[in-house]
Amino acid sequence: MPPPPGLGEVLVHVTARAMHAIDLRTVTGAHRSSKDASVPLFETVRPGLEGVGEIVALSPRVARSSRLRLGMRVAFFPARYAWSEIVTVAEKFATPVPDDMPDEVAGQIHRVPLMAMMLFRCAQLSGASKNGGAIVVSAAGSSVGRILCALLSEAGLPLVALVRRADAVAEFHAMHKGLRCIATSNPNWPRQLVQALDGRPLHVIVDPVGGDLATELIEKLDRHGTFLTYGDLSGERMTVDTMHLASRFLSIKGLSVDSWANLGERVRRRDIEQIFDLARRRPELFPVAGHYDLAEISQAAAHVQDIRRRGCVVLTS
Ligand SMILES: NC(=O)c1ccc[n+]([C@@H]2O[C@H](COP(=O)([O-])OP(=O)(O)OC[C@H]3O[C@@H](n4cnc5c(N)ncnc54)[C@H](OP(=O)(O)O)[C@@H]3O)[C@@H](O)[C@H]2O)c1
Repeated sequence: MPPPPGLGEVLVHVTARAMHAIDLRTVTGAHRSSKDASVPLFETVRPGLEGVGEIVALSPRVARSSRLRLGMRVAFFPARYAWSEIVTVAEKFATPVPDDMPDEVAGQIHRVPLMAMMLFRCAQLSGASKNGGAIVVSAAGSSVGRILCALLSEAGLPLVALVRRADAVAEFHAMHKGLRCIATSNPNWPRQLVQALDGRPLHVIVDPVGGDLATELIEKLDRHGTFLTYGDLSGERMTVDTMHLASRFLSIKGLSVDSWANLGERVRRRDIEQIFDLARRRPELFPVAGHYDLAEISQAAAHVQDIRRRGCVVLTS
């Protein structure tokens, strides 16, 4: 049991939390750049940053001044050790959950959808739609990718989605009617991409894969284009011709959802409201692959790593 809540904190009895592949990479130490000593080594990491549950204690200041109340159901991010039953959460990172939002959705509304939201904003700021430009989203069938594609298409931004398997194209179209999607397993994919762009300049690439795919994609960016990276699914480095970067005025930008907590309160609240709205309108974007009790954490981890998994693995307690 954690200590009583400190100034500005609440204790939450967690009922559901998402288990992501990135959590497992954190546990094993793989989610750490070899050059970045600011990220703790895996021996000291206790995973779990988001979840949903009931407030079981509040600091006197929170009880007096905040919108939070004892017994209220809240979703939270970031907090430490969310794979525990009781978690200490800073009041500013706890959001009351509407009654119509099931725990299995509320427990996954932060890390993945917020990453998609941040990428969406950054793509817009990078001039994605300037002069009829287009955006390419790789790993478009991933949890982040499918929400990002929904946000981009709802905003009317032209995009081409890339997935790696031929049968993932049909899965993508089942979720996103009318969007262009190409499988990179087809050796002709670069030509198909040029056709799908239909003469539009490629202004923004959003890529969590890295490696050869990223290397090949960045060559296709138009002048002043931006390459946004947020993961390394391939586990491989990308190679960049620096002269190509310089002569075409290209930018490469890395993003992490970790910086969301530093955004202003108004932006954070609006982001969560938009995600609640998206989850209501497009529940298919928040699929659940399986539920596991905390005591079944090994089975849950195996399911997260199963390549046939489609959707979020939820840990309950
Ligand atoms: N920076 C951050 O803060 C942050 C936050 C969230 C996620 N991420 C990163 O975003 C990435 C996606 O996470 P997620 O939770 O959305 O993924 P996910 O739902 O677990 O799905 C993984 C997807 O990536 C595809 N994939 C796997 N390896 C690939 C490869 N080598 N080349 C092309 N596609 C590949 C899979 O395709 P198949 O269907 O063919 O298997 C699947 O569609 C991860 O790298 C994760 O670490 C970063």
